[in-house]
Amino acid sequence: MRTEIIELLRKEGKLSKNTLSELANYELHDFIDTVKEVGDNQTKYIKKEEILKNLNTEFIGKNIYIFKEVMSTNTVAKFFAEEDDSDGLVIVSEKQTNAKGRTGKPWESPLGGVWLSIILTPHITQNKIPIITLATGVAVEKAFERLGIKNAEIKWPNDVLINDKKVCGILTEAIAKFNTIERVIVGVGIDVNLNVDELPPEIQEGTISLKSITGKIIDENEVIAIFLEEFEKIYELINESKYEEILKEWRKKSYSIGKTVEVRPPFSKSYDAYVVGVDSEGILIVEKTDGTLEKVISGECIIKKQ
Ligand code: BTN
Repeated sequence: MRTEIIELLRKEGKLSKNTLSELANYELHDFIDTVKEVGDNQTKYIKKEEILKNLNTEFIGKNIYIFKEVMSTNTVAKFFAEEDDSDGLVIVSEKQTNAKGRTGKPWESPLGGVWLSIILTPHITQNKIPIITLATGVAVEKAFERLGIKNAEIKWPNDVLINDKKVCGILTEAIAKFNTIERVIVGVGIDVNLNVDELPPEIQEGTISLKSITGKIIDENEVIAIFLEEFEKIYELINESKYEEILKEWRKKSYSIGKTVEVRPPFSKSYDAYVVGVDSEGILIVEKTDGTLEKVISGECIIKKQ
């Protein structure tokens, strides 16, 4: 993680020393301070003042750092999480050069998107972490509604789709010590003003951007502020253990329930199944072709052509 930050600083010309050993004497807070300096005021479209002007939250995003380019906002967020124990610090970057998707896949993050990570200190046990991902999907859908986009759906666990194409991905990572959740990093990538035809050919077909749906450029700062507001509302429900309320919202907007899928578990054979729903922990329940019910905790669920 340090290596990535050092690389970022080096790119920004903030470091004259360039070997890891020379940097070994730096304390973590030195890095953080330099990273904060690098972050502000250098961006083209995303501006801290613009976000804060419209941000109506109590704590989510009140502390926010904007970068021109980082490898992955989730990685930078983990680094910040070591230093700062506040709830709701947000890292945004206009571009990511090595962004992470689910199941180890890369995530395309050119200029024009909203790439952000929220550092959380949630009051939850480990088994409820999947609910944070589902809740984030609901917050994204609600933000889209406020922007006038009413037909977004959520594909388990973490894809937000419009017209059957992916417009947003969510990557939740937990920092645990001795089996206790200390912090959770929620990474959100929204294809706001991307030109889909400039993405790698293999993902073009399944991807859509808000610009291509609405036919107009949407202010990324507004998307961030609205999303953070919706996120805070649903995050409060998590901290109040009102999981059923979140799941009810998720089910209403679910793309997956009632569809036939190919389940691809990470370490065992794929199988076909029918999606029945999600349980109280946000785990997907499917019915296999032999009629037995199965819980899908991780892996991929590919929707089969109906
Ligand atoms: C997926 O659908 O595979 C998850 C994609 C998550 C992408 C976001 S963009 C901001 C944050 N930083 C990352 O490196 N990944 C997440």
